[in-house]
Amino acid sequence: MTDLKLSSEEMALLEGAEGAGVQRAMEIVVTLGRIYGAPDLVPVRHVQIAGVSYKNLGDAGVAFLNEWAGEGAQARVPATLNPAGMELGRWQEMGFSPDFARPQMEAIKAFVKMGVIPTMSCTPYLFPDYAPHRGDHLAWAESSAVAWANSVVGAYTNREGGPSALAAAIVGRTARYGYHLPENRRATHVIEVTCPVRSIADFGALSYIVGKRVGDGVPWFADLAAWLPPLPKDITLGGDAGDRLKTLGAGLAAYGAVALYHVAGYTPEAREQGEALIRPNTSRIVIDSLAEGYDVMDANPEVDKIDLVTLGCPHASISELRRIAQRLRGENLATRLWITTSQITRARADEEGLVAVIKAAGGEVVADTCAVVAPVRSLGIRTMATNAGKMANYAPMHSGVSMRYGDMEQCLDAAISGRWRKKSV
Ligand code: F3S
Repeated sequence: MTDLKLSSEEMALLEGAEGAGVQRAMEIVVTLGRIYGAPDLVPVRHVQIAGVSYKNLGDAGVAFLNEWAGEGAQARVPATLNPAGMELGRWQEMGFSPDFARPQMEAIKAFVKMGVIPTMSCTPYLFPDYAPHRGDHLAWAESSAVAWANSVVGAYTNREGGPSALAAAIVGRTARYGYHLPENRRATHVIEVTCPVRSIADFGALSYIVGKRVGDGVPWFADLAAWLPPLPKDITLGGDAGDRLKTLGAGLAAYGAVALYHVAGYTPEAREQGEALIRPNTSRIVIDSLAEGYDVMDANPEVDKIDLVTLGCPHASISELRRIAQRLRGENLATRLWITTSQITRARADEEGLVAVIKAAGGEVVADTCAVVAPVRSLGIRTMATNAGKMANYAPMHSGVSMRYGDMEQCLDAAISGRWRKKSV
């Protein structure tokens, strides 16, 4: 434990000047700051809260949220929510049970009572109102979003826990340690990729190989920019580059514990500082094939009949929805297809007529949730296919399903035929 400097206002919050709920929040933030040796607290511009699904919260989690909300605590900076365990307005139609829906709604109500905005999405960076900017300090708890904010945008955030993010929202600050400090943002491993990395699924396979090797380090991708078109001016559109980086960060965080990576000549800090950002004596890793990633993520090669094809992990961008609708126009699906996204992106897709095209083929654009945090086994789903690295890792663990993994075209072919056809890497 070290000395943590608090302003007189922060000290007053810690002593209960604004009530028990704010005091509880300040105690969490200050305790973490002392454990991690933070010199002080830093104001945050935005908070992203994870741990929203009843599947993860359980009754104890819902009771904890109700108690905190009952103490009158209110978010003092914009704070948004991660996906819940179901689509809020369509849970009955989608087959979820009232026994799950009731406590799930209660949890969302408690968040809303505390002033949290119920966006129910893991991609706050795709929302025009909340997208972070270079240099912003944030308190984000969604690991895939943390990797995006730190790496693609050059904002500063640690990977907060569920309660610590909510606490940061209530006090408007977090402890200044870890990735809030420039000295901790330097690269620890240099990664050279000598094989082609063409699709979202390739980026997912790469994330497995690198995540496993670097753990919680900071990878420097020396030559990955060759496989990345420029990011769109409006980064909330995603675009080919954004969709690849979205999956890369999610997989690096899921298979390792990466919260920040750099791409030479491409990501903001790498462009500004060049190789000065690499720590001396860093180890070098050469990747000449993605096969190891595909072998692990395409975990059940014996499965060919697919119950659910799921795309949109992290939540689909408008550019992904455009590509999917283009492929599905005039088709008739043989199996269930979920494209998971936010309500905000779905509304945008609806305006462009994309939702109608996907629906006409028999697919669903599902908002508020995903196949990891929703109780999909209760819907009779036993086999899944995806193009997302994080989904391939978490769905077998959290939802007990068998998994096929491949690129978007392969997944959509499986949705059309109901069967998985393997392609060689
Ligand atoms: Fe988001 Fe669910 Fe993937 S929360 S990152 S879509 S596992």
